[in-house]
Amino acid sequence: MKRTIGTIGVLTSGGDAPGMNAAIRAVVRAAIQRGLRTVGVEHGFTGLLDGCFLDMDLRSVGNILQRGGTILGTSRSPEFMTEEGRLRAADQLRRAGIDALIVIGGEGSFKGAAKLEEECGIPMMGIPATIDNDVYGTDFAIGFDTAVNTAIEAIDRLRDTAESHGRVFFVEVMGRQTGFLALEIGLAGGAMDILVPEFTDDFDHLADLLRDSVGQGRQSSIIVVSEGDKAGGVFQVADQVAKRISIDYRVAILGHIQRGGAPTARDRILGARLGAGAVHGLLHGRSGCMVGEVAERITVTPFPETWQRVKSLDAELVELMRELSG
Ligand code: F6P
Repeated sequence: MKRTIGTIGVLTSGGDAPGMNAAIRAVVRAAIQRGLRTVGVEHGFTGLLDGCFLDMDLRSVGNILQRGGTILGTSRSPEFMTEEGRLRAADQLRRAGIDALIVIGGEGSFKGAAKLEEECGIPMMGIPATIDNDVYGTDFAIGFDTAVNTAIEAIDRLRDTAESHGRVFFVEVMGRQTGFLALEIGLAGGAMDILVPEFTDDFDHLADLLRDSVGQGRQSSIIVVSEGDKAGGVFQVADQVAKRISIDYRVAILGHIQRGGAPTARDRILGARLGAGAVHGLLHGRSGCMVGEVAERITVTPFPETWQRVKSLDAELVELMRELSG
């Protein structure tokens, strides 16, 4: 069904991700090129509740492609998760004359957007942006590629000191309840192994691997641990291994460093494609969906599928990482 849209709102929500600014720029410019007014909502859903609106023109998104974070600001809003909060948000949207809203974030943000659309009838489109890359319906979420590259840079540095001292480094990376970040960081960073929530930890095997590697003359090793690993964190993992084998080890938690920094070209291009794709989708009568990129094509996935269907870790890639870890 085609509807008349004169004004599009755009907000960023949840954890910031490098490349969000590229998506904002694409939304604003694609909308303006099609004769629409665009309004930025500051501070995510919290700002929406408070009516923090900002008229955006072509120049307001100039010189932001290379910046990490989000120029609109973001938040996690418990109030928006209540019906009362969403009624207030809908009222703010109507008062600002916003006919449709584009939400850039992860699955929690899409849950909120879906509810808001259901309750107030204002069309919503989602753009996946989370360093965790845990959203079904897109091969990659905006921010993931940059976070992987940032972590690799850190691991390369840790390797220098690990090798000099002959140490094992247990490196904790983000990812919430998934191991997408850990897997790509492990493979690209030459880790000996990764520990992720999707698989059961085998500490005896890990201790054997380390023992063998020392036997083969290996000086140092990197073990990448996803923050959601069932052992309860990188310190618990290191303790378990150290109970089984005597090693000189250190622990490093990369933390929020993974969220910052200039987005990679891949994240900027993804932001550009998905931002424009969301505007096109709305103008073609789509709503209640997330735009994504699957096998390099722009796709649209209904909001509920983005959190109900499970995106699985590529088991072949895990095998490859282990085969090559030497
Ligand atoms: O979802 C992105 C993410 O960075 C997760 O990897 C991490 O668990 C979480 O956000 C941290 O959230 P906060 O910035 O609120 O501490």
